[in-house]
Amino acid sequence: MSNQDNTYLSPLKSLDEWEDDLLRRYPQPDAIAKDKEVDAFRNYKEPARDSVREFYRLNHQYQTFDFVMRKREEFLSFDRKEMTVWEAFDFLNQLVDDSDPDTDLSQFQHLLQTSEAVRADGHPDWMVLAGLMHDMGKVLCLFGEPQWAVVGDTFPVGCAYSDKIVYPEFFKENPDYNNEQYNSKYGIYTPNCGLKNVFMSWGHDEYIYHMMKDHLPEPALYMLRYHSFYAQHREQAYDHLLDEHDQQMFAWVKLFNSYDLYSKSAVPPDWEQLQPYYVNLVQKYLPQTLRF
Ligand SMILES: [Fe+2]
Ligand SMILES: [Fe+2]
Repeated sequence: MSNQDNTYLSPLKSLDEWEDDLLRRYPQPDAIAKDKEVDAFRNYKEPARDSVREFYRLNHQYQTFDFVMRKREEFLSFDRKEMTVWEAFDFLNQLVDDSDPDTDLSQFQHLLQTSEAVRADGHPDWMVLAGLMHDMGKVLCLFGEPQWAVVGDTFPVGCAYSDKIVYPEFFKENPDYNNEQYNSKYGIYTPNCGLKNVFMSWGHDEYIYHMMKDHLPEPALYMLRYHSFYAQHREQAYDHLLDEHDQQMFAWVKLFNSYDLYSKSAVPPDWEQLQPYYVNLVQKYLPQTLRF
């Protein structure tokens, strides 16, 4: 794909625009940020920006079952780059919001705010680490992937799209929508087969899950893998595919979502002061280098 195509296919001014829109859709903090009024987060009566709608139109049109298979093949061999976690954060920070560089926090600062909010509430250290790492997969953009293949709500492919997914009408343009193999309630799956057997739309969640899967406890891996699966963790739209174990693990995914969405504040965390804790934490769970 040429750069020009990529610009055309990248309607968001920055990846944060998608996350800002999530706050518009889901303004109620479930568990944290007790000190802030709900309204302080976003007025959900505002309509989505056109750029966000256009972003979802592309996402829903192009995330087919075959596309997911191709991207797994392409990226899950992790043969692009090898970096320490700290080099990887520097790399990720090359994703800057050129529309508003003064007010937006860097990707690393969002990650640190998430992990610090988890830590402040006394959750296990592996959940703090999940907070720190959960958006690392956005480096896919730096490997030339279009926005709609990196961020956005995720959903199962290979079966019918739920109308609880944001902008369900845009799925009509997806070739799988008319493919009989994929467009029934269960599609290629069986009732309550468990998410371990289900292919999700491709993006930063699936990528970071595979990168971390040998290193973190299972609840942390669920948080990484399904943190953008709003149709399930907010809407329970795919209970017919989850098994009982998934249902238990989704309590963690739900808990994590509060920290992801509602920990943003304009004040950047004091990295100097926090560094020793995080150096230790990373050392405890992760190898010297990560492969991308
Ligand atoms: Fe994310
Ligand atoms: Fe996030």
